[in-house]
Amino acid sequence: MSYQHEDIARAAEVLRTRLQTLDDKAAIMRAPELGALYAQIRTLPNEVKSSFGRELNELKSELQAAVDAAADSAVELPPIDVTAPMDVNTARPSLLPNQQGSVHPLMHEMERIAHIFNRMGYVVEESRELDDQYHMFETLNFPKGHPARDDYDTFMTVETDKEGDPFIAPAHTSTMQNRVLRKYAANLEKGEPIAVLVPDRVFRNEDLDARHEHTFYQFEGVYVNKGVHAGMLIATLQTFLEEYYGKQLEVRVNPFYFPFTEPSFEFALSCPFCEKTGCHICSQSGWIELLGCGMIHPNVLRAADIDPAVYTGFAWGSGVERLVMMKYGVEDIRHFESAKLDFLEQF
Ligand code: DAH
Repeated sequence: MSYQHEDIARAAEVLRTRLQTLDDKAAIMRAPELGALYAQIRTLPNEVKSSFGRELNELKSELQAAVDAAADSAVELPPIDVTAPMDVNTARPSLLPNQQGSVHPLMHEMERIAHIFNRMGYVVEESRELDDQYHMFETLNFPKGHPARDDYDTFMTVETDKEGDPFIAPAHTSTMQNRVLRKYAANLEKGEPIAVLVPDRVFRNEDLDARHEHTFYQFEGVYVNKGVHAGMLIATLQTFLEEYYGKQLEVRVNPFYFPFTEPSFEFALSCPFCEKTGCHICSQSGWIELLGCGMIHPNVLRAADIDPAVYTGFAWGSGVERLVMMKYGVEDIRHFESAKLDFLEQF
């Protein structure tokens, strides 16, 4: 490397370090060191001009990529401390007197959610924290080897079921669909709908950040009867959300893919904070993608011995934390499982 190339290497070090400290990352592109290096090209002997220029452009692209990445993650929040709030190894952890305890905010909100659906005629069934692949995938129209199984990567046991497959910590409350369809199938013969809400804890193999937890909550809805159509699905979810947020909301439905619904949708609502003018919560879009839903796939009904030629239904699965975070302006999902009293006491 000639001394001219060393100039680039030295400036690169300085600029990379400075970039870390800059609030306005884009300012790095106006750094005098860059301008000076470009000015230097003119003065160089011809044989080094082009390699010097190429290296300098590479540095410029590297800095630009870092600036772009910082702009993309501008709404990302700094990590928070989620370590246990007390030393669990002390002989006598001092516990709070129980009259000072309170219901966890997620439990409280799940009760509110369940109440709203109870009033719409839904019964509540809990999910489970360990299940087999038959319920988690097979009955939901993901045969063995189906690529969409990868979207539900979760924790597994060493022990296996009779098929030789490990048990899994369910990655979604949909794992209960086949059971609730079977349990309430007799309603259909009586001319009544199957209307079930399944709130519970689910697990995913996630990289943790302000929006992703390995353990979180969902509530699944399943509704089946004669003549059920997608308009009813949309109206049900809109009614629920307006009741939950206590205000009128616009909703938007985009096509999506889930193996267990056809058609499948991604359901968004107008941002309850900015009313569509754009804010940091909705990434300036005015819309918040909230949940997955769709018309229950005929194979899913068949797997529960319900005749899809006679009955149709809809289902949805929604994260609880997301809904609660939006309601109270909670900025980081990890607060919920952090067991920190200063967070919990605010509810
Ligand atoms: N289980 C899906 C998930 O966790 C969400 C979902 C989508 C549930 C569509 C449904 C549904 O019941 O119909 O990603």
